[in-house]
Amino acid sequence: MINHPLNIKVYKGEYEMSKVLLINGSPNLNGCTAEALKEMISVFDSEEIGSELINIGGKSVRGCISCGKCEEKGKCVFDDIVNETAPKFKEADGLVIGSPVYYGSPNGTLLSFLDRLFYSTPFSKHFKVGAAVVSCRRGGNSASFDVLNKYFTISSMPIASSTYWNQVHGFTAEDVKKDLEGLQTMRNLARNMAFMIKAFSYAKEKYGLPELERKAFTSFPDGK
Ligand SMILES: Cc1cc2nc3c(=O)[nH]c(=O)nc-3n(C[C@H](O)[C@H](O)[C@H](O)COP(=O)(O)O)c2cc1C
Repeated sequence: MINHPLNIKVYKGEYEMSKVLLINGSPNLNGCTAEALKEMISVFDSEEIGSELINIGGKSVRGCISCGKCEEKGKCVFDDIVNETAPKFKEADGLVIGSPVYYGSPNGTLLSFLDRLFYSTPFSKHFKVGAAVVSCRRGGNSASFDVLNKYFTISSMPIASSTYWNQVHGFTAEDVKKDLEGLQTMRNLARNMAFMIKAFSYAKEKYGLPELERKAFTSFPDGK
């Protein structure tokens, strides 16, 4: 039941709490990206938004082979962490994608995971709130941030923003703890995201989702 001002608990249906799924692309379970995501989770807790963190960095995740079988099956032919995550993404009201920077880009395991997750899942992502979080030692954060945001903007997912680009700096979690502005950026991001989830939940109940047209599919050179 949703009949609330925006600063209280939001329920979908009778009992279910709004929820954010957080993906950590790093193989370091207690590393820099994890530290940034932890800061966000503490805000989600205080905002009474449920959260679940999935670590994919240590998994063997192959890339998409463009077989198109997901269109028939509604899931990826490679039955791994991607298919395990899909139902959780379907249920989530928001998705946070965290990545360490590897050679100026999000890490490879994460990109393989995201290509397959977004391409193989048939459910609507419309108005699930997205946020990308990146961590580097020296450089490459903003380029990686741009790459991750593209998964959201092709999926009609509004992006939550903060008081800086969503980044921390460090080689270890201890370094990130000293990046006070980075952690502040994470807290503001999580608060903005929580507000968006609550506001969209209220608006969806009241007005429904906006229409999405999908008829046009441009195929050059004849435009058909
Ligand atoms: C293969 C590899 C490539 C990296 N490339 C960069 C880079 O381009 N720029 C940078 O500043 N740090 C780079 N780093 C360092 C990590 O991005 C940085 O330490 C990050 O904060 C680690 O996050 P994590 O602890 O969550 O894994 C690289 C690390 C690895 C292992």
